[in-house]
Amino acid sequence: MFAGVARRYDLLNRLLSLRRDVAWRRELVGALALAPPGRVLDCATGTGDVVLTLPQGGHVGTDFCLDMLALARRKASQRGRAVAWVGGDALALPFRDASFAAVTVAFGVRNFADFEGGLAELRRVLVAGGVLAILEFQDPPWRAVRWVSRVWGRLVVAPVGRLLSDDGDAYAYLPASVVNFADGKQVAAAMERVGFEVLVHRNLSLGIAALTVGRLGEVL
Ligand SMILES: C[S@@+](CC[C@H](N)C(=O)[O-])C[C@H]1O[C@@H](n2cnc3c(N)ncnc32)[C@H](O)[C@@H]1O
Repeated sequence: MFAGVARRYDLLNRLLSLRRDVAWRRELVGALALAPPGRVLDCATGTGDVVLTLPQGGHVGTDFCLDMLALARRKASQRGRAVAWVGGDALALPFRDASFAAVTVAFGVRNFADFEGGLAELRRVLVAGGVLAILEFQDPPWRAVRWVSRVWGRLVVAPVGRLLSDDGDAYAYLPASVVNFADGKQVAAAMERVGFEVLVHRNLSLGIAALTVGRLGEVL
């Protein structure tokens, strides 16, 4: 599915979020001020927008969709950015234990086949004291916003996605997957269960998205 949407992915992100996605990723990157110095792994990096929002620093972007990674690589080289792009599944990352000071995931965890298994794998590659920052859509907590968000999903996201992307069904999956996935509070609770101390839990844009940041204490 992600290969099918890769070509128009950035355009549709900007259009369908009215460019809020750019500001949300900046908030995610801003939260890395809480991390110890060191390399960042951006997991489920897609076309690389999170890594390319970070200052330079030998960071790594990983994704299991090689078509997405090819676009990320092209964007990075156009911008003169040195990033290591590595194919890999978030549930079995191709990195040693304790390799990164921070791990970011933007709009990725919702798609993991095993959400808590994925969190445990992200924990594995973090140093003690490292930070995990998750940006994800959620079904907004306030009823009126929830209604607008669901209508937007049905009447704008699904049809515009069908028109512009190469996978007709992918953008119908998006709103449905948001409604069916955990909200930010549940993401925070899951992070605590796998051993993170939650430092930040913030609703963004009236709760359309949520930013959750945790620090890894002692490795379990
Ligand atoms: C909605 S895109 C988000 C891309 C990017 N993080 C962003 O901010 O635009 C979701 C990405 O997660 C990737 N993904 C989903 N499950 C994954 C997994 N188990 N391992 C690696 N990548 C995964 C998909 O290939 C896709 O590129």
